[in-house]
Amino acid sequence: MAFRYLSAGESHGPCLSVIVEGVPTGLPLDAEMLAADLAKRQLKAGAGGRMAIETDRAEILAGVMQGLTTGAPIALQIVNKDHAAWKGREVPAYTTARPGHADLAACVKYGFNDIRQALERSSARETACRVAVGAIARQFLAAFGIKARSYVASLGAVPEAKVTEAEAFAFAETSESRAPSQAQEDAYTNTIHIAKSKGETLGGVIALEVTGLPVGLGSYVTPDRRLDARLAAAVMSVNAIKGVEIGDAFTGAATPGSELHDPIVRDETGAIVRPTNRCGGLEAGMTTGQPLRLRVAMKPIPTTIIPQKSIDLATGEAATTTYERSDTCPVPRACVVIESVVLIELATALMEKLGGDTLDEMLARFKTLPTPDTIRLSPASKIFWP
Ligand SMILES: Cc1cc2nc3c(=O)[nH]c(=O)nc-3n(C[C@H](O)[C@H](O)[C@H](O)COP(=O)(O)O)c2cc1C
Repeated sequence: MAFRYLSAGESHGPCLSVIVEGVPTGLPLDAEMLAADLAKRQLKAGAGGRMAIETDRAEILAGVMQGLTTGAPIALQIVNKDHAAWKGREVPAYTTARPGHADLAACVKYGFNDIRQALERSSARETACRVAVGAIARQFLAAFGIKARSYVASLGAVPEAKVTEAEAFAFAETSESRAPSQAQEDAYTNTIHIAKSKGETLGGVIALEVTGLPVGLGSYVTPDRRLDARLAAAVMSVNAIKGVEIGDAFTGAATPGSELHDPIVRDETGAIVRPTNRCGGLEAGMTTGQPLRLRVAMKPIPTTIIPQKSIDLATGEAATTTYERSDTCPVPRACVVIESVVLIELATALMEKLGGDTLDEMLARFKTLPTPDTIRLSPASKIFWP
């Protein structure tokens, strides 16, 4: 069984629709449970005018009865309030391709004569669907004690904060820009304000952690079962994400091997422990049972008030881009999108590991899986029995 979904919908169409399949029976689910995650995608810091119009809410149209999933496909619908403003309106064709967007390649590929035919779907409005699906994955994984958190580790050229990861994740939950500390929150707010006033946009780096994972999700036996590869693909599928780091990958590349790898030792109780987690909770495509640690780089978004050099595809003449309402820096809003795609991939991996049709069945099987706490051998015992 896999956790699968397919979304449809344009940025200014009537609604976004999603079908989610593979969720076991018995998972408590209602629209309020999805609303908290959708609200995080609407954080105001760095957002443009669209977020002031929308109050995203995913209505559950199928697959849930009496507040519990039935195992049938779940249908979700998110209404685009902005559709009303566009409906029936004469919208002029958009013909100047914007660097950094789908525009040029899409018009060549699909033969469009109006870039809107591409941008309506390539827009990150679609990520609202992934957040709604991710909220289902979050609800499912929470039943097993698996939880994701994230914060904005850097934004624009603001240097990283000197705070512990624990402080950073905790502070971000209360921060409008998902900053790791009050000092960073102030710096991010100020940097966004300056960028907006100049007509610029900003990127940043998102740090993510998932705790409570058992040992051995994913596998090394075939490339397509490697969880590191699957998570990287999931994260890279999010609009404007240009890089992903697992654990300390980039500083690790410059570290001698004997110093980098996380030692395997026994503590005084006989438990097998890893005192460090530089591998980010993944070795050979499998979870180690330690927290999963990812960092994700988001490019400064391409729609800028400052005009950029391009070509008018209708005339072939040199042109500069024109501006339509847009974010300044959606990195804070993208945190929950990254959490969502990671949670969806982890829910799939857990379902593959556990099998089963009902949540209760899966919970019983989960209790038999090794976690770092349960790899607890007496000092004399071995993993390889004679
Ligand atoms: C949550 C979120 C909000 C975004 N908002 C905007 C936006 O307002 N304006 C814009 O130009 N790009 C925005 N983007 C990025 C574009 O969708 C993205 O840059 C575009 O699809 C091309 O990037 P790609 O080459 O990575 O697909 C946003 C991305 C995310 C994840």
